[in-house]
Amino acid sequence: MQTSTFPIGMSQVELEAKIAAMRQANTEGRSLGFVIELKSAPGHAVGMVGAHVREDGQVELGYHLDPALWGQGLMTEAVAMVADTVFALTRVDSVMAGVKPDNLGSRRVLEKAGFIADGGYEHESPLWGRYAVKRYRRPREKISPLVSALERFGRPVPEMAFDLCGRV
Ligand SMILES: CC(C)(COP(=O)(O)OP(=O)(O)OC[C@H]1O[C@@H](n2cnc3c(N)ncnc32)[C@H](O)[C@@H]1OP(=O)(O)O)[C@@H](O)C(=O)NCCC(=O)NCCS
Repeated sequence: MQTSTFPIGMSQVELEAKIAAMRQANTEGRSLGFVIELKSAPGHAVGMVGAHVREDGQVELGYHLDPALWGQGLMTEAVAMVADTVFALTRVDSVMAGVKPDNLGSRRVLEKAGFIADGGYEHESPLWGRYAVKRYRRPREKISPLVSALERFGRPVPEMAFDLCGRV
């Protein structure tokens, strides 16, 4: 998994502490984290998607999905929806995401969800040490692919195959 916040091999204790911290951040308005479940298999977590306020004030998205479900467009829908929700709930001008340059699937997700490449920076992680990150950003004025689909076809976008059940 190419995410520095949910490393493979976390113990049950570490995971529970992580989830408690995310719940706390949700409660305090510092983050908006969701568990993803398939409508066809409710009650079974298959991934996570969320946004949090960074120390520098930017709103950053993070996400990961069960590899068995990759390539079906699920995370593109989830990322676009969370970005739309951030814009609906806050006054931020943009949302961003940082991606390792070789994470081509994640970069593609962001591009499909309306994000554009916006330089890069270096990140220090206890897991990976210091590494280069490619930054993507979606400005508020960029119309969501979901909204533009709605306008293009003049009808509601199809119902999504998953629920954002807010049970982090
Ligand atoms: C990144 C991730 C969330 C993608 O989820 P997903 O539901 O499979 O994404 P989608 O199906 O919506 O879109 C994936 C796109 O990337 C493309 N893609 C996937 N792997 C690719 C690769 N190695 N090279 C080029 N494109 C790739 C797919 O073809 C698809 O694009 P397309 O629709 O134009 O064909 C998932 O791989 C994941 O959880 N990875 C591990 C955690 C992670 O990397 N999180 C992001 C940290 S920044």
